Amino acid sequence: MNIVIDSHRAVSYQTYPLLLYGSIQEDCLDFLSLPPYVSVFQERKQIDDLFSLLETVRFPIPVLQSLDYFKQRDLFTYTHVLMVFALSTLLAKDLIPDDQERTRLSATGPTHDIGKICVPLHILKKTTPLTKTERNFLEHHAAAGYVLLSYYYKDFRYLACTVALDHHERRDGSGYPRGVPLNDPLTEIIAVSDIYDALIMPRPYRSSAYDHRTALEEITEMAKQNKVGWDVVKALIAHRRKSRPSYKEITISAERRGTPPAYNVHDVLEDETDPKDKTL
Ligand SMILES: [Fe+2]
Ligand SMILES: [Fe+2]
Repeated sequence: MNIVIDSHRAVSYQTYPLLLYGSIQEDCLDFLSLPPYVSVFQERKQIDDLFSLLETVRFPIPVLQSLDYFKQRDLFTYTHVLMVFALSTLLAKDLIPDDQERTRLSATGPTHDIGKICVPLHILKKTTPLTKTERNFLEHHAAAGYVLLSYYYKDFRYLACTVALDHHERRDGSGYPRGVPLNDPLTEIIAVSDIYDALIMPRPYRSSAYDHRTALEEITEMAKQNKVGWDVVKALIAHRRKSRPSYKEITISAERRGTPPAYNVHDVLEDETDPKDKTL
């Protein structure tokens, strides 16, 4: 893997401002002004802050072109990466006091799933349970994203690279691709934004999206199991409360009242019959 990352190091990619590229800014505004995000970003100032923070962010051209690919071929992923970018920036405002750190984090949202460019589209869009082989292909996107971004940024220590690699890791080591404990607070903000968006937005593999309450209950459950940290979960919950309390004041009810969608094959694996058996 390091040979791929180290090769071609002499050539620098031209960069371009994210918000001026294609229809990124308009698409973000559209997604944020529609349900379910219109109830998360209720104030125009939150959106203005989001864009002003990002004005200086530039991406290498091939990274921006990956967003074109998703927009044309896989709208779920395109919408997802933009909303993870928006949501993580909102949460970082509460959790990360340093402006430069926040800008660094915000620039990782749009690229955290870039490795999905290596996953066949029929797997990304499958509406029935994945086979174990297909699940492996899908989970490969984390390592693939790390390699691609390390190559484009010429530095595997760049935050976007480690976020791409580790955004499916969990505090208790139960995640993938390496199964190592997630202990970086910046990556954890992307991880929780990733989970929340995946729950509240439509997905091919289930009948409907989770409502906000049920989604928050799912993530609270993950915090109870020490898969994600409490602060980021509380920051998310604080944004759903009308009084907009500080995340430090949030107390969480143990009661579960939400109803998950009836058809959801996200964690279900299809039986994989040995191909030899099929000929019998
Ligand atoms: Fe991912
Ligand atoms: Fe994601």
